[in-house]
Amino acid sequence: MSTPRLSVIGDPIGHSKSPQIHAQFAQDTGISLDYTKTLVTASELEDYLQQFFAAGGTGLNVTVPHKEAVWRWCQHLTERAQAAGAVNTLYRDGDRIVGDNTDGAGLVDDLLRQGVVLTDTRVLLLGAGGAARGALLPLVQAGARVTLYNRTEQRARQLIEDLGAGRLLRPDDASFDLVISASSAGLTADSVKLPQAWFHAQTFAYDMIYSDQETAFMQAARQAGAGACSDGLGMLVGQAARAFQRWFGVLPPTKAVFDQLRKD
Ligand code: ATR
Repeated sequence: MSTPRLSVIGDPIGHSKSPQIHAQFAQDTGISLDYTKTLVTASELEDYLQQFFAAGGTGLNVTVPHKEAVWRWCQHLTERAQAAGAVNTLYRDGDRIVGDNTDGAGLVDDLLRQGVVLTDTRVLLLGAGGAARGALLPLVQAGARVTLYNRTEQRARQLIEDLGAGRLLRPDDASFDLVISASSAGLTADSVKLPQAWFHAQTFAYDMIYSDQETAFMQAARQAGAGACSDGLGMLVGQAARAFQRWFGVLPPTKAVFDQLRKD
């Protein structure tokens, strides 16, 4: 059998860590694969998808800015991709190409890896864009009680209505056990102020964005009283592991990959 061909597509794509992550998974599981990164512009997207799979490609990861466009392109979606409104993983199921979204599962896996309990946990999810949409149901399915807050309240209201899960932040809400930032804002530390009322000494603050340094959200959460913080590097590795599982039926170990990326 020929080596399975996979790629991550996006625009830009130079920064993507996915080839490195999947090369490590391949080594750890003894599965050989050829995983590249491909710059695909919006105007090239449809032709690229068709040609990739017509030529026998095994699967793709999809990143910014194509996740929603690929969702619209897909004729078959997993339930979680349907709910997320975005696709980050494409795989073959017989003759069909199926769109999946592994971001929310990657988030939940990473939270559990870090010892965060989700059952009956009071979670505040900040944001109502694609990232929050992908996270809401996986968090609820893991047992969390999710409250949403977004700069534009109407978007949060719409998200709750669309997915039939979560509730809006109320003025008298007391502190949360877990506060997750799903905001896309490239914020500076000065520009983020988080209410102290959201935090208690054991609150875990999680930023879906990853960075070598503490992110602005993490700094603001500490200042507001969070007990511990994390960036989203583990979510990146977690979503990749769940994609790998789709393609090869094996959930690869994530620790070695995570430790290596942290050192790089
Ligand atoms: P993504 O797919 O990454 O979630 P998105 O759909 O553009 O991107 O959503 C961006 C999210 O970040 C939204 O929740 C947005 O809030 P609005 O709905 O009010 O726009 C949030 N966001 C972006 N910039 C922000 C800022 N400066 N302050 C607060 N929230 C911000």
